[in-house]
Amino acid sequence: MTGAAAKTRVLFVCLGNICRSPMAEGVFRDLVERAGLVDEFEIDSAGTGNWHIGDPPDQRAVRAAAARGIDISGQRARQVRASDFEAFDHLIAMDGANFETLARMAPGNRAGRISLALAHVPGKGRCDVPDPYYGGPEGFERALDLLDEAARGLLNQIARN
Ligand code: 4NP
Repeated sequence: MTGAAAKTRVLFVCLGNICRSPMAEGVFRDLVERAGLVDEFEIDSAGTGNWHIGDPPDQRAVRAAAARGIDISGQRARQVRASDFEAFDHLIAMDGANFETLARMAPGNRAGRISLALAHVPGKGRCDVPDPYYGGPEGFERALDLLDEAARGLLNQIARN
């Protein structure tokens, strides 16, 4: 083989792209960096909705991630687009509603690239990462705990393949 191996491209998707998927992007990037694999990945996040395009992550998400040593303050929200199904190998949905929206958008042969975040965690395969937007700070902690598990499971799975 010649040339560098292709990067593995991962897109995390939630509804607004200001709470869960920015945290997911930050947690996964942090894990990949600590594993020394940053050059092998392209990592991004997006929302199925359009309300927050161009916005930074929710301050509660920024603070909760910062408390774990993860800086997500530079991210800006964008909406999922059809070309994401070509540009990314894995589209990781935070909940079942996000999954269904992506599945409806996916070109014919691309739906197989979509998975639920917690499908990468043994025993939690059908669970959602609950939306913390309308709740208190504990929802952001819970989301980060789940996303930490999801990130480890996803990286292990990619590394095996
Ligand atoms: P996210 O949370 O999908 O985790 O980014 C939400 C953020 C904003 C809204 C809904 C969910 N909203 O309706 O504006």
